[in-house]
Amino acid sequence: MTTFASAAHHYAAFRPRYPEEFFTLLADRFGLDGTQTVLDLGCGPGTITIPLASRAGHVYAVDIEPAMINEGRKAAAHHADNITWACADAASLTGMGLPPLHLCTMGKSFQWMNQTQVLADLDTLIRPGGGITLVSTGPRNSTVRPAWLDIIESVCTNVIGPGYRQEHGPVAHPAEGRDDTLRRSPFSRIETARWDQTFTRTLDELIGLQYSFSYSSPAVLGTRQAAFDEHLRRELTLFSPNGTFENTVPIEAVIATRP
Ligand SMILES: C[S@@+](CC[C@H](N)C(=O)[O-])C[C@H]1O[C@@H](n2cnc3c(N)ncnc32)[C@H](O)[C@@H]1O
Repeated sequence: MTTFASAAHHYAAFRPRYPEEFFTLLADRFGLDGTQTVLDLGCGPGTITIPLASRAGHVYAVDIEPAMINEGRKAAAHHADNITWACADAASLTGMGLPPLHLCTMGKSFQWMNQTQVLADLDTLIRPGGGITLVSTGPRNSTVRPAWLDIIESVCTNVIGPGYRQEHGPVAHPAEGRDDTLRRSPFSRIETARWDQTFTRTLDELIGLQYSFSYSSPAVLGTRQAAFDEHLRRELTLFSPNGTFENTVPIEAVIATRP
């Protein structure tokens, strides 16, 4: 069981989908025409897997957390039959019996892995002309950070403790940045694309979203969950009595290919 075990259900229910432009970019850049083989590594509940399955021949959806794989299977049940779900650690990538791949996607999962090793292993699995795509929330350049995010931070700090993100976040924090790691890997040619995505959430949706994060999951909160919930509802309702919360989030995709 991992830090995402108790978050998986909330992840499937409350995390946003990636923008359509992201999938169009993947299709254009990797010539996806419904015949390619793709690996979605650290797939969670299928956030990338499921939309990608309609553009690829087969998607291997791999995640270390069984609860995430269960959510993915449930979500895909009425959509796609060209997905193989597997509960496995990225550290054992070369022993999974995967076929040659055209593309490996990693959505907000690369930071949880031994990055150098995963890139070296993918080099043995990805066909010539194929590549990797990482997607995550990017830095806020032009978008404004909503003030209610400070309220959430403050409640998390009060209830869970200072340093709660580091304590319950990704295990490995590489000394170098993501792009430097990619540049010294076999997939050293990198291109970046960005989109702004705007969400309007209700109070219940915003609170559900907090339970999807590893650092404020139900398991981390434990017996403090009721107090956390009550505190957060009170503070957020004072901030926005009409109960709606808007946020514009920058989404960043990095395509990494061999030179
Ligand atoms: C933040 S979630 C991202 C889920 C999904 N890819 C998305 O974009 O929404 C990170 C996922 O990486 C998975 N993960 C973390 N370490 C892993 C590892 N060593 N091998 C496979 N999956 C891993 C977690 O279980 C979790 O489901």
